[in-house]
Amino acid sequence: MATEMTMDTLVAYKTDFESGCAEFLSRYPDSELYAPVRYLMGLGGKRLRPALVLAACEACGGQKAQALPAALAVELFHNFTLMHDDIMDDAPLRRGHATVHEKWNDNLSILSGDALHVMSCEALLDAPAEALPDLMRTFHRTALEVCEGQEQDMAFESREEVALDEYMEMIRLKTSVLLAASLRMGGRSAGSREETLDALYEFGLHVGLAFQLQDDYLDAFGDPEKFGKQVGGDILSDKKTFLLIRALEKAHGADYDALRSELGQKKEGKVGRVLDLYRRLGVDSELRDAMAGQVALAEGALARFEQSKSGALQGSKAAVSLLHGVAAMVTERLS
Ligand code: IPE
Ligand code: IPE
Ligand code: MG
Ligand code: MG
Ligand code: MG
Repeated sequence: MATEMTMDTLVAYKTDFESGCAEFLSRYPDSELYAPVRYLMGLGGKRLRPALVLAACEACGGQKAQALPAALAVELFHNFTLMHDDIMDDAPLRRGHATVHEKWNDNLSILSGDALHVMSCEALLDAPAEALPDLMRTFHRTALEVCEGQEQDMAFESREEVALDEYMEMIRLKTSVLLAASLRMGGRSAGSREETLDALYEFGLHVGLAFQLQDDYLDAFGDPEKFGKQVGGDILSDKKTFLLIRALEKAHGADYDALRSELGQKKEGKVGRVLDLYRRLGVDSELRDAMAGQVALAEGALARFEQSKSGALQGSKAAVSLLHGVAAMVTERLS
């Protein structure tokens, strides 16, 4: 199956990344400030973003080693956002274990998260000198966009009405731009030209939108054993996800009143009641269709990426097929 091949290639990139990461972390003191950093990084995760950096670099004809600094930067930055996101979302679980603020406290989680952000910037400094200014521009712009998206996500919790296009813009910012930047930075580390980098970025944006839609789906309907996070957390905090927005748009009469009455409180059984409404209103299958739409757009961008390279260095076929596989994998993980 395509997904199995993709998983094998992902594991290979993950292995490359892990050894580089261990070496990088060993540069920092063994003190309390870095304990949460080592803990969260040590809990693993899919390492999707660094795999995309390395794959994009190879798909553009570069060598993985050229892109390792960018891969480290995006994964360290991603983990920083998770450490702070878990405080903001009051989340008890991350990757199947206690979140940093639960295991330690909010203050250390804020401070270690800040350190992790700075570490991500330090990691990038080892990138090829010729690519560094452009990599830094992409990386810092992206970091600000993620903060903008996180601010919107939080503000939407207490807003009564959020439109679907506002939600799509919010997830573009909080999630997609980092996947897109990972691909662009991988291609840039290989020295690719602008047209190629733009196609990679656009591919990442659509994969990222599909990926956050999937994350929202799994937060509601995922298997608690496999998800590694608290299932129903988004429902408890009234997150304006695709599911809630569409349910509020589709519900009428008693269903609408029932759904509205669940917002702003956390009474026993809230998650189950909201999930029943989601299923009855069919917003789960709507979300799957929206995801498939994004995956199709991602495939279009990938085709443009391949065209943009014709005549130039072709790059690794395995890396290109990983990019195709990642897009497909996002939809397959729901079944
Ligand atoms: C979680 O990202 C945050 C989102 C943007 C949905 P991942 O699902 O990539 O988390 P890990 O790194 O694999 O744990
Ligand atoms: C994550 O969104 C976005 C960032 C961390 C920037 P979520 O809040 O949905 O991520 P999870 O579900 O906690 O991983
Ligand atoms: Mg969040
Ligand atoms: Mg969260
Ligand atoms: Mg989530």
